[in-house]
Amino acid sequence: MELTLPDLQEKLKAWDGCALSKNANAVLGEGNPNADVLFIGEAPGQREDELGRPFVGAAGKFLDELIESMGWKRAQVYISNVVKYRPPDNRDPTPEEKAECMPWLMLEIAIIKPKVIVPLGRHSLGHFYPKLSISTAHGNPHKLTDDVTVFPIYHPAAALHNGNLRQSLLDDFAKLKSFLESHGITPPTE
Ligand code: URA
Repeated sequence: MELTLPDLQEKLKAWDGCALSKNANAVLGEGNPNADVLFIGEAPGQREDELGRPFVGAAGKFLDELIESMGWKRAQVYISNVVKYRPPDNRDPTPEEKAECMPWLMLEIAIIKPKVIVPLGRHSLGHFYPKLSISTAHGNPHKLTDDVTVFPIYHPAAALHNGNLRQSLLDDFAKLKSFLESHGITPPTE
């Protein structure tokens, strides 16, 4: 039987393969299970931990705005994270924590089969291109396979701390919109 996203949600809740899972709630991705576009952040924050949903705090509100700036809606894409549990005090996830959680992201990608993967920030970019820096790679497509392009963008939370990055994020989403249009990738209708 084929694994579905609700199956994954159930399995993740029952999992104790990561030390972070002892003190935090599981936060799987959410959105369109057939999405062409997959956004991948770093790890849940406080609000995400409380609600068990990704990108629902301040950074999430800005991400929604950025998605809408392309004429798309949040429900038309899929949004996930590298790490599925909130690190204490919102510290950066460790390399071990990222590695421990990676199978869940790989399973999400295998189910959704996105055409474009958008790593938000360096933790997510580092999984696909460990040698690239987000400051030089952002806003440009990187062809990973014949079927999948990686389009890195700064993490939306970075603009909450550094106002100059807000425009950079808006510019990158405009570039992403052009990329999607030129590749015939349009928002799903249903
Ligand atoms: N930052 C992230 O990287 N992910 C979230 O879900 C929320 C904030």
